[in-house]
Amino acid sequence: MPQPPANANNQNLNQKDTFWEEPANSGPGVLQNKAKHAVKKTQTPTPQAKPQPKSSKSTAPQIPEFYKQGMASVLDLIAPAAYKMEPNYLQLGNTYVRTLFVFTYPRYVQTNWLATIINYDVTLDISMFVYPIPTKEMMNQLKKKAGQLESSLTIEREKGMVRNPELETAVENIESLRDVLQKGEMRIFQFALYFTIYAKSLDELNTITEQLESTLGGMLIYTKQALLQMEQGFNSTIPLGNDELKIFRNLDTASLSTTFPFTSATLSSNDGILYGLNRHNNSLILFDRFNLENANSVVFAKAGAGKSYLVKLEALRSLMFGVDLIIIDPENEYKTLCEAVGGNYLNISINSDKRINPFDLPKAGAQAKKDASGEDILRSNITMVHGLVSLMLGSVTPEEDAVLEKAIYETYALKDITADIESQKNTPPLLPDLQNVLANMTGAENMVKRLSKFTEGTFKGLFDQPTNFELDAGFSVFSVRDLEDNLRPIAMYMVLNYVWQRVRFDMKKRIMIIDEAWWMMQYEDSAKFLYALAKRARKYYLGLTVISQDVEDFLDSKYGRSVVNNSSMQILMKQSTAAIEKVANVFGLTEGEKFLLLECEVGEGLFFAGLNHVAIKVIASYTEDQLITTSPQQLLELQGLEAGEEPEAQPPETPPAAQPSQTPTEAVPPPQAETQAPPPQSQMPPTQIQPPQAPPEPQPPPVPQSPQNPQAQPQQNVPASKNDNIALQTPPIE
Ligand SMILES: Nc1ncnc2c1ncn2[C@@H]1O[C@H](COP(=O)(O)OP(=O)(O)OP(=O)(O)O)[C@@H](O)[C@H]1O
Ligand SMILES: [Mg+2]
Repeated sequence: MPQPPANANNQNLNQKDTFWEEPANSGPGVLQNKAKHAVKKTQTPTPQAKPQPKSSKSTAPQIPEFYKQGMASVLDLIAPAAYKMEPNYLQLGNTYVRTLFVFTYPRYVQTNWLATIINYDVTLDISMFVYPIPTKEMMNQLKKKAGQLESSLTIEREKGMVRNPELETAVENIESLRDVLQKGEMRIFQFALYFTIYAKSLDELNTITEQLESTLGGMLIYTKQALLQMEQGFNSTIPLGNDELKIFRNLDTASLSTTFPFTSATLSSNDGILYGLNRHNNSLILFDRFNLENANSVVFAKAGAGKSYLVKLEALRSLMFGVDLIIIDPENEYKTLCEAVGGNYLNISINSDKRINPFDLPKAGAQAKKDASGEDILRSNITMVHGLVSLMLGSVTPEEDAVLEKAIYETYALKDITADIESQKNTPPLLPDLQNVLANMTGAENMVKRLSKFTEGTFKGLFDQPTNFELDAGFSVFSVRDLEDNLRPIAMYMVLNYVWQRVRFDMKKRIMIIDEAWWMMQYEDSAKFLYALAKRARKYYLGLTVISQDVEDFLDSKYGRSVVNNSSMQILMKQSTAAIEKVANVFGLTEGEKFLLLECEVGEGLFFAGLNHVAIKVIASYTEDQLITTSPQQLLELQGLEAGEEPEAQPPETPPAAQPSQTPTEAVPPPQAETQAPPPQSQMPPTQIQPPQAPPEPQPPPVPQSPQNPQAQPQQNVPASKNDNIALQTPPIE
C-alpha cells in the first residue's frame, strides 16, 4: 500500500487523537473528562489539567473552575454516558455501532450506485476520503510497471510460449492509462469508503450489516468489518475529516465520479413537451407522459395555485404533437383556448344548440379497422343507453329494467340497426323513438310518463335530438357549467360515455382532461366511472388528466385513491396547511417537500413522473398566457383591447369595470364567466377571483432537501443513458 501523498487531506492521517480523547489544544470540558474517566479508566478527572487560553478581554470576570464544572455544556447533551469497545462493534450508550470498509470494487459499476445505499432506510454514516495522487508519481510507477510487464511478455515470447492474454490486457490498460494521464484528461486518486451502521440492539446491527453487505455484494463491491478497529472506524465516519482506517483503492476520475450519490434531478427527455423549469437546477422539464406505464395524470392544489393553467399549457403543447384533447370544463375556462386552436366547444345545457344523441354508434369505418365486432359495439351502446335512461327515470324496478332493455333493442331494430356492422351505418334512433316503443309495451306505462319530461317537458331538447357535434376535431371541450343541478349527473354520464365509446372504437393518441373532478367524487356513479376510466385508459391510448382542488375529499374516496394510484404522472402545487399532512402521507413527501408545497408561488409545485420527482415552475410564453389565463383582470383587459374600436388608442390599463357590458368577440373569452348569474349548481365552486400574478422569477431558489430521506433524493435521468456504466479503471500498481 503506497503512502498517501502529501496534501491537505493527509495532515489528518497522522492525527492519533480520537474523538473521545481530548485534543491537545482544547480546554478541559467537564464532559470530556467524564467520558475519559468512563472509558480509559486510568485517568482521573483533572479539572485544572490545562491552562485556560487567555481571554482577549482581560476585564471579563473570571468564572471559577468549580462553578464551571457544574455547568452543562453541549457535550453533556450529545455525548453518551459511556461506551464499550468490542472487536466487532462499539456500544455507545444504548446504541450499537459497527464500521465496514470497502476493500474491492468491480471493473464496472452503475453511475450513482451509492444512491441505493443512501436511500436505504437505516441510520448509517458514510464517509469518503479522496486523496489525489500527483500525476508525475503515477506516471513513474506506471512506466516501471509497463517495463516489467513488457519484459515478461518478451521473455515468454522468446521461450516460444503461447500468448498470454492476461499480460497483454494489463499492458494495454497501462498504456491507455499512461496516454490519458499524459494528456491531463484524467487523474488518479486514492479513495477510501467507510460505512458506519447504528442500531438499537446487537441483533438489529447484525441484520443491517448482512443487508448492507449483500446489497453492496450484489454490485460486486465487497466490504469487511473493521475488526479490532471499531473505534478508528467510528472516528473515521464522524464528521471530523480524520481517516484513521486508511484503507484506500486507486481510482481514476471517471470511476470516482460514479461514487457521487447526489446526481442532479433532471427530467429532460428527447421527446415530449415542455412542462416547465426544473427548480433544482433550472433545466427544462421535457417529458412525454405516453412513455410512462400509463399516461394518466392527477393535479392537486388549492384554488388559484395554477392547476388549470398548467393543464391548459400541456393541452396546447400536446396538440402541436398530434395528440387529441377532450376536456370536461365546469367553468367555461377553456373556451378561449378552444376557439384559438379551432376546436369544438360544446356547451351542454338546455339552451345550447349543440346536442349529443345517446343512441349514436361509433363510426362503422373506424370499427371495421379495429376489428371490433358489430355485436360488441351494439351491446356496449345498449348498456350505456340503459344506464342513462335508468338515471333519467330515477329508480326502476327489476321488471321495468327488463322491459327497458328489451325496448332499447327494439328501438335500434326499428331503425334496422342490428349486430351486423353494415347496419350500424343507418341513422340512429332518438329518445322519442324509445318512448314510443315503451308506450306499446306492457309494464312500461310508468316509465313512459317519467321519460316524457325529457322528450316533451322541461328538459326537452337536451337528450332527444340528433348529434350535431363532431368529436373528430383535435380539440373538443364539453362545458357543463350551465347545467341544472339535477341534470348534471345524467348529462355527465352521457358525455363521458359518448367520449368513451369513441375512444374505445377509434384508437388515437388522446388526452382527456376533467377539471374540478372533485365534484365527480360526490356521486358514486361518476366516481366509479372515473376510476374505471383511469384503469382502462392506457389500453386505448388515452391519458386521463384529473384536476382537483379538494384534495382531501378526493383522497378520502376509495375511487379517488385508486385514480391517484393509477396515475403515473402526479403534479402537486401549492397546498393548504390543512391538507398538507394527508398529501404528504399519500405521496410520501419529505419535510422539505412539504415546506416547498406550502411556500411555493402560483405556478410552482412538485412534478412526479414515475419514480422521478422534481420541483417545477410552469412558464408560458406571452401568447400562450393570453390564451390560458383565468385572471379576471387580465381577461377584462384583453377584452377591452379586442372590443375597443381603436385598440392603439386604448390606455394599457383599461378600468375593468367599464368592460363587462361589451359584446364579446369570437376570439376573446366572454366576460360572462364573471358577469353572468352564478351557476345554479350548489356543488359547483364559486368562480375564483385571482389577484394579478407576479411575473415568474428567472432564478428560483433551490429546493430544501433532506439528505436522509429517499424521497428527497433527486433521481436519475429518464430514460437511463447508455453511458451509465462506467468502467472502474483500477491501475495495476501495488
Ligand atoms: N405558471 C403561471 N404563470 C403565470 N401565471 C399563472 C401561472 N399559473 C397560474 N397563473 C395565474 O394564476 C391564476 C390562477 O390559475 P388557475 O386558474 O390555473 O388556478 P387553478 O389552480 O386552476 O384554480 P381553481 O382551482 O380555482 O380553478 C390565473 O390568473 C393564472 O393566469
Ligand atoms: Mg382551475
